[in-house]
Amino acid sequence: MAWWEEAVFYQIYPRSFADASGDGVGDLRGITSKLDYLQVLGIDAVWISPFFPSPMRDFGYDVSDYCDIDPVFGTLHDFDELVDEAHRRNIKVIIDWVPNHTSSDHPWFTESRSSRENPRRSWYVWRSLDEKGRLPNNWIRAWSDQPAWTRDDLTGEYYLHCFLESQPDLNWDEPLVRQAMHNVLRFWLDRGVDGFRMDVVHLIGKELSRNDDPELAALTHVILNDVPIVHDYLREIRSVLDGYADRVSVGEVALFDPHQVATYYGQGDELHLSFNFKSLMTPWRASAWADLIRETEETHAAVSAWPTWVLSNHDNPRIATRLGAIEERVRSALVLLLSLRGTPFLYAGEELGLPDAEIPSERVVDPGGRDGCRSPIPWQQAPPFGWTDNPWLPFGTSAAERSVEAQRNDVHSTWHFCRMLLQLRRSEPALLRGTVVGLEVRGDVMVFERHEGTSRLAVAVNFADSHAEIPWSTETIAEWLLPAMPPAHLSSNGAAIVRLR
Ligand code: NOJ
Repeated sequence: MAWWEEAVFYQIYPRSFADASGDGVGDLRGITSKLDYLQVLGIDAVWISPFFPSPMRDFGYDVSDYCDIDPVFGTLHDFDELVDEAHRRNIKVIIDWVPNHTSSDHPWFTESRSSRENPRRSWYVWRSLDEKGRLPNNWIRAWSDQPAWTRDDLTGEYYLHCFLESQPDLNWDEPLVRQAMHNVLRFWLDRGVDGFRMDVVHLIGKELSRNDDPELAALTHVILNDVPIVHDYLREIRSVLDGYADRVSVGEVALFDPHQVATYYGQGDELHLSFNFKSLMTPWRASAWADLIRETEETHAAVSAWPTWVLSNHDNPRIATRLGAIEERVRSALVLLLSLRGTPFLYAGEELGLPDAEIPSERVVDPGGRDGCRSPIPWQQAPPFGWTDNPWLPFGTSAAERSVEAQRNDVHSTWHFCRMLLQLRRSEPALLRGTVVGLEVRGDVMVFERHEGTSRLAVAVNFADSHAEIPWSTETIAEWLLPAMPPAHLSSNGAAIVRLR
């Protein structure tokens, strides 16, 4: 097994994680200061969302220099120190590479837009209106019902941007763009990163002349784009990574069909891992989760792809919010995340069962309405929760009780529960590598087993708001792992893990 198949990744949104400089925005030295915490929690790798120079219109996903650090986050020296300190603790570090678009402040775009003859014109996607005055296609940009094309007055042509107007799409058909972006990968690989999360990487291949997006859907083009050429580009990217030992790519393939997602692993020559986002929309129902697991298992096994699991991230409501802040559900969701077959990605704060913060209208900063799930991590119990008095986003109302300090002091907290699960996962080869066997729904209870050699574990999750019978007969159980003592029944929305004889 490769390290990334057994690892638990922990996503850090750097603005919101920990602030060493005291300016109200989290930074790299803040992350370094929390590495001991992450080691105690028991994760294996961190994915750090973008920290590169940026005008921050999309809070760092609009990069104006791929090979430096934005001063708000620190310096390259701080980054090197963070990587060294993480590695000293056996924590791998992957960073966020944003290949589909740059910021409109990037010097490449400044050059490209300057004239139709500029040598960098072809680095972005420029088109004129057709003879009937129509745009090249009907694509819609993210977070709006607006076209993904904007006219640039300097030359009168339109440029493509699947996200904000200030995030022009790069033209990956241009070999020099591919070369430049490969060099960005090498820059960070040479600095010792263990790999990359690749932002909307399914989007880098495009067919502008393809049929227009379905009118009815009025969906952003981002979640529809899936064309063959991207696989050529992914193979080239893979060969850059293969020039280094043991580095991983995790693609943000923002398509919601596990079947499509699985094709992005290629024949083991494209992405090492791909996000599988259907779980972000799967309702809290036994049959819905069983279907998702079955579909993920089947589609991924068919192409020997190793699945990934995710409950939330910096773009989506936190799992606690999505599940109605019901503690037992949040814990059972963590059981699913950490006991299913595949690589789990834990979003910082999930170990605390942290819900989204309510953001008053005057504090809203994100053009995509995602501020709530980006509220800072409450470290201390008393305000300002280990931050300055004025963090970039407000805390939620449960910050004190959900804080790291409060939960570490309470052995019954979600934090201790999550840590125990992480330890269990690490010590049980069946959870790390085992096959999924006997997936079944019995009423509101979903059960499955994980088998590895002679070791057999069984997991049950009760999706009902009332308690349920234990789904195994006493004589088949060798040991109770969760809870540690045999309970009378499965609690409402509760989960259990046992070792089978
Ligand atoms: C996906 C990222 O996760 C999101 O935060 C960002 O806004 C878009 N890609 C554009 O880069």
